[in-house]
Amino acid sequence: MCGIVGYIGQNDVKEILLTGLEKLEYRGYDSAGIAVYNENEGVCIFKDQGRIAHLRSIVEDVPSTMGIGHTRWATHGEPNHVNSHPHQSANKRFTLVHNGVIENEDELREKYFDGFNFVSETDTELVVELFDQFFNQDDGDIEIAIRQLIKVLHGSYALGIIDHENPDVLYAIKNKSPLLIGKGDGFNMIGSDSLAMLKQTNTFYEIDDLEYVKITRDNIEIFEMTGVKVKRDPFVTKIDANDIEKGVYPHFMLKEIDEQPFVIRRIIQEYEKDGKLQIDQEIVDTVKESDRIYIIAAGTSYNAGLIGKQLLEKIGNKPVEVHIASEFVYNTPIVSKKPLFLFVSQSGETADCRAVLVKIKKLGYKSLTLTNVEGSTLSREADYTLLLHAGPEIAVASTKAYTANIAVLTILSALIGDNMNHEELHHELSIVATVIESICDEKELFDEIAGKYLKDTRNCFYIGRHIDYYVALEAALKLKEISYIQTEGFAAGELKHGTIALIEKGTPVIAVISQDEINLNTRSNVKEVKSRGGNTVVISQKSISQKTDQVIIDDVHPTLTPLVTIVPTQLIAYYAALHRDLDIDKPRNLAKSVTVE
Ligand code: F6R
Repeated sequence: MCGIVGYIGQNDVKEILLTGLEKLEYRGYDSAGIAVYNENEGVCIFKDQGRIAHLRSIVEDVPSTMGIGHTRWATHGEPNHVNSHPHQSANKRFTLVHNGVIENEDELREKYFDGFNFVSETDTELVVELFDQFFNQDDGDIEIAIRQLIKVLHGSYALGIIDHENPDVLYAIKNKSPLLIGKGDGFNMIGSDSLAMLKQTNTFYEIDDLEYVKITRDNIEIFEMTGVKVKRDPFVTKIDANDIEKGVYPHFMLKEIDEQPFVIRRIIQEYEKDGKLQIDQEIVDTVKESDRIYIIAAGTSYNAGLIGKQLLEKIGNKPVEVHIASEFVYNTPIVSKKPLFLFVSQSGETADCRAVLVKIKKLGYKSLTLTNVEGSTLSREADYTLLLHAGPEIAVASTKAYTANIAVLTILSALIGDNMNHEELHHELSIVATVIESICDEKELFDEIAGKYLKDTRNCFYIGRHIDYYVALEAALKLKEISYIQTEGFAAGELKHGTIALIEKGTPVIAVISQDEINLNTRSNVKEVKSRGGNTVVISQKSISQKTDQVIIDDVHPTLTPLVTIVPTQLIAYYAALHRDLDIDKPRNLAKSVTVE
């Protein structure tokens, strides 16, 4: 995790770095720092534990037009001042920021640094010292030192490096961690993603693993690790700088929940060609020709994958398995003869997914990535990509990417099967957008439910059967990650097999009931909870007479219900965190783009 940014140009670099880091804060936010070069004072470092807002308050007014910055999600050593980036070599020649994890850290320490006294506990300090050592061994040739470094480092890294003796050049190196180069007029930048640079430029170069980059104010040179220069065209992003601002909203999460109807409509628009919803025929054929789809994902994307299985099987007639990426990679099941691997990842950077992608590519299997981030690692490395078109998702808790995933998977399912024709698909997705809108108009209700049942509770349960069970899993994840209430999602029928022992007076239990055939059974489970003193809420299309709080939603196609039933649960999570006075967009210990395994 962590995020890096760097700039070399004409303008004052501090504000550019701080603004860039604010946009990267979703990648980690336990410490932050910048290093800027000043002619008289050399490289000045400002860093500390805490958020970018705190960093802003300690940055001094040093004029500078080049520098690097970092926001941290601690992997090596606790979040404190010393472990914060940037790190500097002991002789002060090089200063460096790093996103990633060096896997052979111990081996390198033993081999190159016997008896050396490191100041911090980070693997990054080791990298900067190693770089300095190679530089001195190689007669001061910085590029040879970079190539040497790439040869010995195992693990993930996006590095931004300043050489104090040559402040007109900024260096960057990449392996496994994301890195883009921003191209400007009289300036150039490096960054973990385009959002960090979007205020300055919308033109970017992708960098591949084991490549390094030399940037000056007017020039960008990309090299393979052999030193051979790479010719690459830049790309221009469609993302608007306004898309990454909160606007009138108090939190990104609320904005992103509210954006969901618009996202569904945009997906319809983006996938519509000649009056029909379409996906590249080669992708449709590849999916059709496969004998089984393996969905690989993590967290909310995994939960969206569980719904995807329902869609692909029920609408697309294709057998599907859904796997947690971090499990699949080390505990790979026997796969079918002609599998298609479908990676579902908002960021397109999740290291657990990438590890699977690398593995299945070696086995010669086909892959498709469903992602919100064009040009992301999983997108570039898979055979095919489908984009979510959800716009940047900034809140750490994923909301609109979940619904966007399901909407795009609905289109794919309809195109590979023959259970839903084009008109129906268009019509059903449009209804979904309208129903989500009406749910979002009921915010007071969710505020009230959260205030009544979740403000002070220690735990909470979501229950559901059938497709609602998978919604319950995502609903529980959303609530626990931002409210810190211990929440579990359960198959409603499983309650009586053990979990009901946890229900006591006042335990909140929220039931999702969207399918006719399980309606009565789940309602019975709600009654069982109620009679043991639990506080119950039912999210359903139908009102019921039993004494429980109810969220009534309008009808949608029975297989598309997760697109709407999830929305009340997102809002309940939001208001629960608000009532508990928590940092909604940046929950503790989390980061949005998880680039470590
Ligand atoms: C939860 C959340 C995480 C991510 C997970 C996968 O709200 O955001 O669980 O869903 O880390 O991330 P992506 O989708 O980027 O692969």
